[in-house]
Amino acid sequence: MAQQILFTRNIAATLDEVLAAYDYDRLFLLTDNNTGQYCRPLLSESKVLATARCINILPDDTHKSLDALASVWQELSDRHASRHSMMINLGGGMVTDLGGFAAATFKRGIRYINIPTTLLGAVDAAVGGKTGINFNGLKNEIGAFAPAEAVLVSTSFFKTLSREHLLSGFAEMLKHGLISTTDTYNRLFTLDLSMPDSEEMLACLEQSIAVKRHVVEEDPFEANIRKSLNLGHTVGHAFESLSHKRNRPVQHGYAVAWGLVCELLISHRLQKFPLDVLRTFAQYVKQNYGVFVISCDDYDYLYERMTHDKKNTADTINFTLLSGVGEVVINQTASRDEICVALDLYRDLMGL
Ligand code: GLY
Repeated sequence: MAQQILFTRNIAATLDEVLAAYDYDRLFLLTDNNTGQYCRPLLSESKVLATARCINILPDDTHKSLDALASVWQELSDRHASRHSMMINLGGGMVTDLGGFAAATFKRGIRYINIPTTLLGAVDAAVGGKTGINFNGLKNEIGAFAPAEAVLVSTSFFKTLSREHLLSGFAEMLKHGLISTTDTYNRLFTLDLSMPDSEEMLACLEQSIAVKRHVVEEDPFEANIRKSLNLGHTVGHAFESLSHKRNRPVQHGYAVAWGLVCELLISHRLQKFPLDVLRTFAQYVKQNYGVFVISCDDYDYLYERMTHDKKNTADTINFTLLSGVGEVVINQTASRDEICVALDLYRDLMGL
C-alpha cells in the first residue's frame, strides 16, 4: 500500500506537479460547502485544477451517508467519468472518507488524491486507505481499504481552523506520540497550537504522519500492528456515542483524548504503564480538552457501546494497551469490572 505523502508550502504548485505524473481523461474535484468556499481559493493558482469538474456535497458527519455517496456517483456518471478519470478530495475526514469510497467503487475504482484541510484529516483520515460512510446509525459501517494515490499536506489550510478543531486533530497526534517514541511524544507538548502554520507544527505533523504511515505500510488491513492506531478509541467511541445520545455531540478528537486517559488507566493496571506519565497526560487533557462528565449511571451504556466496537472478536472487547510510551500491546481485553474501575479512576483524576 505505497502512498505518496507530500508536505508542501505551495499546495497549488505541488498539486500541478503531482497531477503531471498521471495520465487521466477527466479530472473531478470533490468539496463540501465549507471547503468549496474557504479552501478551494487557496488552490486558485493551480492551472490543472481549473480544468476539473466540481462536485459538491453538504458538510458534516451527518452527511457521510448513502444519499451523499449516491449523489457523487450520480455526478460522476452524468459527467462521464471513466475508469481512467482522477478525483481530488478537498476536505476533512468526511470528504476524504466518502470521496475515497466513491472513487474506490465507481466503475470498480478510479484513482484519487486527498488534500486534507483539517488537522484531524491530515494526521489520520486522509492517510492509510480507510474509506467509507456511516450506515444504519453506525460510523464507518460500510467502506473499503483503498489508498489515495497521493496525500498532499499543507498547513496553510489550518490557519482558519478553530482551536477546537485543532485540538481535535491534535488528540490523534498525541496518540501517535504515545505509540511511537518518548522523543516524538514529548516534542508535542512544546507545540503552540495558536500557530498552526508554524515550521514546528509542520515538523511535528510530518513526524506524526510518519508514525501512521509506518504502521499502515506494515499492516495495511489491520491484521495486527495497525490495531495500535486504535489506542484510546474503544472508550473514546463510547464517549462519542454517549455525547450524541445526550444531544451534545463532542468532536471526535476530544472523545479520543478522554478515551486515551481511560485506556492509559487500564494500561497502568494491566500493563504497568508508568503512573507519572499517566498523571501528566491526564492533567494536560483536563487543562486543554476539559472534562467529559460521566457518572456511574452511564457505565452500562458505555460498556454496551464498547461491546459493539468493530475491532472486537466474538464477545471480547479488544483493547490496544501500552506498557510504556512506544511499548504497544495489541489484542488485549479487560473485564467489565476492570473497565468500570478505569472509569471510576478517570472520574477521580478529572475531579468529577
Ligand atoms: N484511524 C485508524 C486507522 O487508520 O487505522
